[in-house]
Amino acid sequence: MSAIWKLTVPLLALFFAVASGLAIIGGPTNADPSEQEVKDALQYTVDHIIGWANTPFLRKLTRVGDIKQQVVVGMMYVLTVEMARTNCTKEEEETQCVVYTDPMIASPIRCNADVWKHPITEKYEMMKMACVA
Ligand SMILES: *[C@@H]1O[C@H](CO)[C@@H](O)[C@H](O)[C@H]1NC(C)=O
Repeated sequence: MSAIWKLTVPLLALFFAVASGLAIIGGPTNADPSEQEVKDALQYTVDHIIGWANTPFLRKLTRVGDIKQQVVVGMMYVLTVEMARTNCTKEEEETQCVVYTDPMIASPIRCNADVWKHPITEKYEMMKMACVA
């Protein structure tokens, strides 16, 4: 009887350790857009899309969709953003730039981005990105 009890306690302890471990590693949760780290991940994504887009025209963020975060080794952010063309080229001063109201000219794109924050360097890295017009 007491032998079984002694075995049960460590098993329970193990079960709870695994269960709480799963809760930490768990699925993605909604990110808080007011958190600085989330803002940084968003800014990183926007800059990355501007640099990546094969056009001299500057795009601006027009809509922020879902932002999810997931604890991995570091943090993974999954962002959805919409960006549209402004009347500026990439070289121009960004404060003067406005998004075209005509959607034909603004040609908005919607991008899904997986951005990883490195746990030690705290640098952001684009792991996966897909944009559609
Ligand atoms: C873009 O449009 C805004 C508003 O009309 C204007 O103030 C700005 O000078 C324009 N920028 C360029 C680079 O043409």
